[in-house]
Amino acid sequence: MSPLTEINTEIEHCPKCELSKHRTKAVPGEGPENAGLLFIGEAPGWHEDKSGRPFVGPAGQYLDQLIGMIGYKRNQVYITNVVKCRPPENRDPMPGEIQACGPYLERQLEVIKPRVVVTLGRYSMSKYFPGESISKVHGRAKRIGGTIYFAMYHPAAALHQGNLRKVIEADILKLPAVLVEAGKMEEEKDRPAQLKFF
Ligand code: URA
Ligand code: SF4
Repeated sequence: MSPLTEINTEIEHCPKCELSKHRTKAVPGEGPENAGLLFIGEAPGWHEDKSGRPFVGPAGQYLDQLIGMIGYKRNQVYITNVVKCRPPENRDPMPGEIQACGPYLERQLEVIKPRVVVTLGRYSMSKYFPGESISKVHGRAKRIGGTIYFAMYHPAAALHQGNLRKVIEADILKLPAVLVEAGKMEEEKDRPAQLKFF
């Protein structure tokens, strides 16, 4: 079993928080084990809980479109969530659940080692941009170690608030430049490249 399959199998049987009692299926995430680009959403919804796959409902279809706008296919990127099991009635995940689930995301990131991590919505944003607000930090990149983190609104928010569509679409179009910057960083390991802040 590959290291990532091992983590994801553990998640499927995980009893570590209250959400395990409500789930149909846990949703570990999907994509290539060596993906350079990784997206982190909030939590599975109804469709994801039924299928065991991330972002397959309406927000997922919009995310697929956004990924397409930068010339990627969904199966070329890794997609996961802050918590891997659906909160009942799609309520917000609670701090204890986020904390209990955190080590899985950390282990996934250690194995996949993406160059660029995109946070979708405020729950994943607050892990890497602590104390920031999404309205301020969306469309901005930040380097932590060898990885660049890039914050975006959640695609579901953009579906519900039409005026956010333009914003989220403008933000995703900044990603190719962030990916180029991340590539340079890798080439120039000894001489850290300047990271542009948008
Ligand atoms: N919303 C999320 O945050 N994650 C999913 O997987 C689906 C919808
Ligand atoms: Fe385990 Fe995370 Fe599911 Fe809670 S949400 S049961 S910690 S996999």
